[in-house]
Amino acid sequence: MARDMVHDTDSSPTARLLSLWDHLGIRVAHVATQMPGDIAGLAARFASRLGGVVLCVPSRLDPPRFEAAADRLLMICGERGLTADVTARAAARLRGATRVVLAGYDAPGWADVVADRTDEIAREMSGFLGRLNAEAPVSTSREGTHAGISYRVVGSGPALVLLPFFLAPSQWAPAVAQLARTFTVVTLGGAHLGGVAALEDRARAPTYQAMFRTLIDLMVPAPGEAILDVGCGAGSLDRLLAQWLGPASAITAIDVNPFLLSEAAFLARAEGFDGRIRFAPGNAEALPFADESFDCIFSITVLRSATPTARWPRWCAWRGRAAGWASSCDRSTCRNGGVSSSPTRFWTGWRLRRNRSAQRGWPTPAFIAAPGGPGSPISPAFRPW
Ligand SMILES: C[S@@+](CC[C@H](N)C(=O)[O-])C[C@H]1O[C@@H](n2cnc3c(N)ncnc32)[C@H](O)[C@@H]1O
Repeated sequence: MARDMVHDTDSSPTARLLSLWDHLGIRVAHVATQMPGDIAGLAARFASRLGGVVLCVPSRLDPPRFEAAADRLLMICGERGLTADVTARAAARLRGATRVVLAGYDAPGWADVVADRTDEIAREMSGFLGRLNAEAPVSTSREGTHAGISYRVVGSGPALVLLPFFLAPSQWAPAVAQLARTFTVVTLGGAHLGGVAALEDRARAPTYQAMFRTLIDLMVPAPGEAILDVGCGAGSLDRLLAQWLGPASAITAIDVNPFLLSEAAFLARAEGFDGRIRFAPGNAEALPFADESFDCIFSITVLRSATPTARWPRWCAWRGRAAGWASSCDRSTCRNGGVSSSPTRFWTGWRLRRNRSAQRGWPTPAFIAAPGGPGSPISPAFRPW
């Protein structure tokens, strides 16, 4: 399917969403997201176009932007962790808002929450939204793209628009059939919303590119060498790399998230990298490749989604598939669990040249680090070799 306007930045999510509402003939719709920023403009300035608003395990939330819709706001959160804190603080400021706690659940940014708690979430949403007003779309279109947003429509009844999660592998899929019994469910995707937009934005940041460039400079991939990206997300870094290395690059990019993989493949095609990056499903815990299948392996901000004790074994597993270099880079939150850096350091990377005797002893990797916060680019001065 051809999609329009992939990367024009002159249009805010609010303008795009309003345009989509008009395109589908939606006057008032219920809306649900994990990422409040995607709908904050709608909630603050166009609350009359919203019925109920569901924030499902948000880890960031600016309460003032939801004041106009507070009495129609449902926040679903974990019992502990960031989503519990963020929604508790918001509930104290947003009079009339409802907060539902998923008992015994923590919801890190990558939680597959709808898969984990399908019935509970579908039931809470249906009950809450069922008491509020929204209207069915006038348009009979079931699938398409408008204003850079892809959409898919199932069911009938008042419109319920589901925006993409950040990293949840299943997104809303496990609950769509249940929700579609009551609502016209409109599921959205594309480069301007959810995790894809966040990863694309991050990959455009000069500091992020500097970090990645440092990693690639260390690995020095030769033309035609096989490169593997473990946990590629939206493929943002693979497109950068393909651009830096030129047509001779042979990049394979894997991820456990089918939604992100399909968005990554779409973006690569749309930006002219068709056939130059191979996207495939793959789990870092059990890489579907033989040893030494790749000359270089890299993995950026993926280790942190493993439990601290699983980080070091995961890293070792990747390394075994590299004939040349393996590099990983993450935030300093990885400091527990064998891949360490000082809390004052932001980005940390490791390099380990493959060496059979060294491999048997799993030596501590050398690391590079950038001091300070997110504003600090990695400097060659921090390379210890
Ligand atoms: C924060 S994103 C980083 C994406 C990309 N590396 C970047 O920097 O733009 C983390 C990615 O790791 C993926 N991931 C998490 N656990 C994984 C696993 N066990 N195997 C493969 N990918 C995984 C997630 O699905 C997500 O796409």
